Amino acid sequence: MASEALQQLILDTLDEKGTIKDTRSLVLPNQSELAASHDTQITILGALNSLLSRDMIKYESHEVFSYILSPEGAQIAKEGSHEARVWAALPAKGQGPPMTPVQLKKEVGEAIAKVGQGNAFKQKWIAKEGDGLVKAVDSIKDATQLDLQEIESTGDIKSGEKVLADLRKRKLVVQRKGQWFTVHKGVNFSTSIAKPETDLTAEMLASGTWKTSTFKKYNFEAEGIPPAGGALHPLLKVREEIRNIFLEMGFAEMPTSSFVESAFWCFDALFVPQQHPARDLQDTFYISDPVKALPPEPSYYKRVSTVHEHGGYGSSGYRAPWSHEESSKLLLRTHTTASSTHMLYKLAARCRGEEVEGDEKEFTHGAKATTAHGESQDDGFRPAKLFSIDRVFRNETMDATHLAEFHQVEGVVADRGLTLADLIGFMRVFFKKMGIEQVRFKPAYNPYTEPSLEIFAFHPMLNKWVEVGNSGMFRPEMLEPMGFPKDVRVHGWGLSLERPTMIRYGINNIRTLLGHKVSIEGIENSAAVMF
Ligand code: PHE
Repeated sequence: MASEALQQLILDTLDEKGTIKDTRSLVLPNQSELAASHDTQITILGALNSLLSRDMIKYESHEVFSYILSPEGAQIAKEGSHEARVWAALPAKGQGPPMTPVQLKKEVGEAIAKVGQGNAFKQKWIAKEGDGLVKAVDSIKDATQLDLQEIESTGDIKSGEKVLADLRKRKLVVQRKGQWFTVHKGVNFSTSIAKPETDLTAEMLASGTWKTSTFKKYNFEAEGIPPAGGALHPLLKVREEIRNIFLEMGFAEMPTSSFVESAFWCFDALFVPQQHPARDLQDTFYISDPVKALPPEPSYYKRVSTVHEHGGYGSSGYRAPWSHEESSKLLLRTHTTASSTHMLYKLAARCRGEEVEGDEKEFTHGAKATTAHGESQDDGFRPAKLFSIDRVFRNETMDATHLAEFHQVEGVVADRGLTLADLIGFMRVFFKKMGIEQVRFKPAYNPYTEPSLEIFAFHPMLNKWVEVGNSGMFRPEMLEPMGFPKDVRVHGWGLSLERPTMIRYGINNIRTLLGHKVSIEGIENSAAVMF
């Protein structure tokens, strides 16, 4: 019966009788449905609770116990007790040969023969005759079967507690708890069920119907909608992993917050010639306002412009006229090496004889100061291991693997007497920690490093070597104008953050990873969030 019809029946009965003393007496329209049955009372309870929530009724519940047969009990109700079946199998006294115990077992089954025999003897239903068994009486009354049949049909037994307790002990009967209810009218009693309002609307306020409407009560027990969890962007995740690799290798993180740099710090200080194609408009985003950068420290500026124009420190320079205008242009940094250059200039401050305080933490994680080879005197140099992971900008034509902005990972190591083998060694450890075991190095060209190496990693899924980074030993033309002693070598390597992230998570279009086309849902469901 539909819940609404049942609710209506309850209200109509209440209207007629004032109270419903016992819901088991409710006459349900469907005759085959017994109001007294266990399941019906559960359905009634649902209807009662729904009416109660609107204060249309009140009710009390009562407990009743009824009894049902266990599977074994049901079988006995049908076929008789074990003892009755033993009795039935045996021949009457003097009629035919007595039945041997072996025959009896065959006849009724072992379990029944065993239990049934004992009980039948106790009841004096059977007797021994020679080696066999015979009926001792002409008829029997199988009380167990009758009791069980009564329970099966009424749920209870008239002969009382003791018999019931015995049947329960024999596991032929189990108790079942049931409920029934007494129902009264509630404060909002009415025979018409108005569907309660779930929302207070502007129309209800305007028309005033809110005063007479009934509202559905809040269900404070209802479970809420689980809030969507946050998700780390794959790039941030890989960034964090790489950051931890640098930190565990003793590197300190460089400040990289200045996206806008001057051409001086991005190129000139690195000994990138002023005519270099990377500085072209097609490759670099220049800033139009403000037009010029603040000038660098004059004597350093002079040393840099001189090494470009005329050479020095063993170099012949580019022998091309120096342009101050070119040098003071502002741009979006094209590589994080611009920030590294700033930091190296700062690291060389003691070597230039400048007073510096508290720079140890900035540059190293516990490295000790070293003195120049063969000299005991401190020339101010402190070794350093630095890294950065941040955004860079290039005026690229955008496609599946190129964006106008991406992230660079960069490591820089400064110490006396470093060799190319040190650089290769560092990179092998670094890439191994990133899970890249097979690396190869290929000679390359960078204006600011000599020698320079491109780094290739074997990609097992693509089954080929892919370029993963660029590296080299910074040139003396870059380091010596800063003031570093001649035996100080600085090497560095750089890679993009996007490339290893795309390889790791099988992303083949960079635009799904970075930029305005990134979908939040895609990030939330990405494997990177899970693994
Ligand atoms: N700046 C280089 C690049 O943009 C990477 C690099 C860093 C190379 C440090 C050498 C040393 O690819």
